[in-house]
Amino acid sequence: MILIIDFGSQYNQLIARRVRELHVYCQIDPPNINPAAIKALKPDGIILSGGPASIYEKNSPRIDPAVFDLKIPVLGICYGMQFMVSAMGGSVSRSGKREYGFAELLVKKPEGLLEGVGNKITCWMSHGDSIEKLPPGFKITASTDSTRVAAIVNSRKKLYGVQYHPEVAHTRMGKKMLRNFLFDVCGCKRSWTMKSFARDTISTVRERVGDKRVILGLSGGVDSSVTAMLLHKSIGNKLTCIFVDNGLLRKNEGEKLKVTLKRHLAINIRFVSAGARFLRDLKGVVNPEKKRKIIGRVFMEVFEAEARKIKGAEFLAQGTLYPDVIESISAFGGPTSIIKSHHNVGGLPKKMKLALIEPLKYLFKDEVRVLGKTLGLPDELIWRQPFPGPGLAIRIIGAITRPRLTILRNVDDLLLDEIKKAGYYKKLWQSFAVLLPIKTVGVMGDRRTYENIVAIRAVTSKDAMTADWARLPHAFLGKISNRIINEVNGVNRVVYDISSKPPSTIEWE
Ligand code: XMP
Repeated sequence: MILIIDFGSQYNQLIARRVRELHVYCQIDPPNINPAAIKALKPDGIILSGGPASIYEKNSPRIDPAVFDLKIPVLGICYGMQFMVSAMGGSVSRSGKREYGFAELLVKKPEGLLEGVGNKITCWMSHGDSIEKLPPGFKITASTDSTRVAAIVNSRKKLYGVQYHPEVAHTRMGKKMLRNFLFDVCGCKRSWTMKSFARDTISTVRERVGDKRVILGLSGGVDSSVTAMLLHKSIGNKLTCIFVDNGLLRKNEGEKLKVTLKRHLAINIRFVSAGARFLRDLKGVVNPEKKRKIIGRVFMEVFEAEARKIKGAEFLAQGTLYPDVIESISAFGGPTSIIKSHHNVGGLPKKMKLALIEPLKYLFKDEVRVLGKTLGLPDELIWRQPFPGPGLAIRIIGAITRPRLTILRNVDDLLLDEIKKAGYYKKLWQSFAVLLPIKTVGVMGDRRTYENIVAIRAVTSKDAMTADWARLPHAFLGKISNRIINEVNGVNRVVYDISSKPPSTIEWE
């Protein structure tokens, strides 16, 4: 495995992605990990990430320099290299001005990392400080016009440093450099596959759970379905899933999910129909955060009441993914402001004294999809677009009523039908409709209408952190608009949302 030390770079997840793409397992840890803990992990190599700090700043992140004496190859990227240089007796100059963007890398010594990459390649730079003096035992292997020390090596100790970012696609041959590091320098094997991951996880979970029982909240989304499948293969009927129908699902979704889940996951599932209770507590509520809080609270109450009926349960399984984990441990990930409160069963483990099982916590979304496929889940579960926990409640702007839910369900159903038929469903991160609390005038036949507006939202994204509005063809949008206005009672106007995230968000509330 490869250990990645997080010095706060925005590219950390990308480094992890690249390593995993090469079928090598990797893990990201904060810089305060101590050498003994590193040794215990038995990494074949260590990558020190970049970061926004300057090594001269008072609280700049640092790792115990003993890491350079563990006889484990180290690759320092950007800040990671500067830290290595200064920790080993070299010096870094504060240039004050940033070099940001493309640069031409002249390879002087094509060895180790740089073997076979050619002698002149484009690379991606993003740094302020530069290396001034190398520590003993190091030599320069590549330079650019403005950065003399762009790549360095200490071959005897297998320590490498690069000022540019090999993990970014803009660095041509970046992947080849990482490949050189992983396989030639560190001697890694290409053993990380979803098959091996599934096999290992199934046996670890089995050992941990023993003869106890596990509860899992199933939403019908990819993450919870894959978690359920993995646990089922591991502990069979010691797993009980709970599916809460909050009355805010899409048209016939509860029913459809019931059938699909039962067919493909031959698992204990308890379906709890709690729509009336959610709608009662949401009556007249307009404020988005209030809606979210109420839904979160009611969900907890319903889930807990059901979970208490399962005797002997000692674990709660969750489909937490790696990006969530990284965000919470990131060296610079201080308290981020709450934009929208996401609900989950976060408080439950403590309240019910349950231990957590999070088998996907080192995986990225696309890896989870591959894992689902490996475990035999059908495409209709693996390729579901994300659907928020609070459901249609945050897609109805203003108060939630049954008639408004019906209108939105009909629009949403028709929209997804068209999106699927046209082959856009998998290509879009999400596509959905939002019902606005305003009426406008229209004319149908010879009669004046005074009806609702719906907005269509379709976005592309890799991880929902940022998103772009989808450039769907005008003719296609026209067709959707026509069908909605003609076929859904209560709507006489359709608009298309052309805002990206940031500054907007994907959901409207
Ligand atoms: P925003 O609207 O913040 O959404 O850009 C980012 C992603 O998160 C989903 N989302 C939620 N998912 N519970 C969830 O499980 C929630 O409360 C929630 N709110 C937003 C949203 O659909 C998008 O994919």
